[in-house]
Amino acid sequence: MSNSVTLHYTEEGQGIPLVLLHGYPFSGAIWQTQQQGLSSNYRVITPDLRGHGQSPAPDGVYEMELMARDVLALLDSLNVQKAAIMGHSMGGYVTFALWRLAPERFIALGLIDSQAGADSEEGRQGRYKTAEKVFEDGSQVVAQAMVPRLFAPSLPDSEPIVEQARTLILNTRPVGIIGTLKGMASRPDSTALLPAIKIPTLIITGDKDQIIPAQKAEGMAEAIPMATLVTIENAGHMPMLEQPQAVTMAIRNFLDELPQ
Ligand code: MLT
Repeated sequence: MSNSVTLHYTEEGQGIPLVLLHGYPFSGAIWQTQQQGLSSNYRVITPDLRGHGQSPAPDGVYEMELMARDVLALLDSLNVQKAAIMGHSMGGYVTFALWRLAPERFIALGLIDSQAGADSEEGRQGRYKTAEKVFEDGSQVVAQAMVPRLFAPSLPDSEPIVEQARTLILNTRPVGIIGTLKGMASRPDSTALLPAIKIPTLIITGDKDQIIPAQKAEGMAEAIPMATLVTIENAGHMPMLEQPQAVTMAIRNFLDELPQ
C-alpha cells in the first residue's frame, strides 16, 4: 500500500457505509444529491479518486488496482471494515479491482453505467491519442469531446448540469486525465468475474447512455447471480445528475432490502 495516496472525500450520515465512486474525469461532487438523500439512513462516503477533484494527482499510470488500493487505504483510515461499494463507469472498473483485491470488504456491490469488458485495441489506441492531445492542449480536449455525448440527446444544452459536468472536466488536471486514460486502457477484462459475484448487486443504467449502452448493463445483470437491474428513463451516461431522485430511490430501495 506504500504507493497509495491519501484521498480527499466527503462523508455524511450514519449507518451501513455506502461508498460511491465517481467516473472519469469527474469527482465525488457528482453524488451530491444521492449523498444528501441517503445520509438519513446510511453513512455515505464519496471519495475523489487519485487525479480527480481535490485528491493528489501524481505522475504515472493510474492502474485500476492502484486506484482501488487508495480506496482501501481510505476505508482503513475511516475504520470501515465492510461497505456497500458502488462505482459509476470508471468507478465501476475500480469497483471490480476492489472486488479482486478484497471481496470480504463488500456488503453489496453496485455498477452504474459501467461495463465489465476491457478496451478493444482501437479503444486503447484512442485513449493514448487523447492522452497526447491533453498533454498538448489541456483538459478542454476531453470536455469538448465528451460533453456532447454525456447526456440523453433530448437534454437541452442550457440545463445547468451540462455546465456542471463541463466545469468538473475542466477542473480535472491534465496529469490526472492522462494517468487515468492510460490506466483504463490497461485494465483487465472482468467478464469472467461476474458469475462469482455472489452478493447483492445493483446495476443501474440510463436508457439513453451514448457512452456505455444499456445493453452492457443488461448483460452484466444476466451474468451476476444476485443482480437487480434498474433502467433509468430519459437519462444518458450521467443518471445521477440527469435523474437524481430516481437514482437515489433506486439505491435506497436496494440498500433497504439488504439483510441486516
Ligand atoms: C467514465 O465515465 O468513467 C468513462 O466514460 C469510462 C470510459 O471511458 O471507459
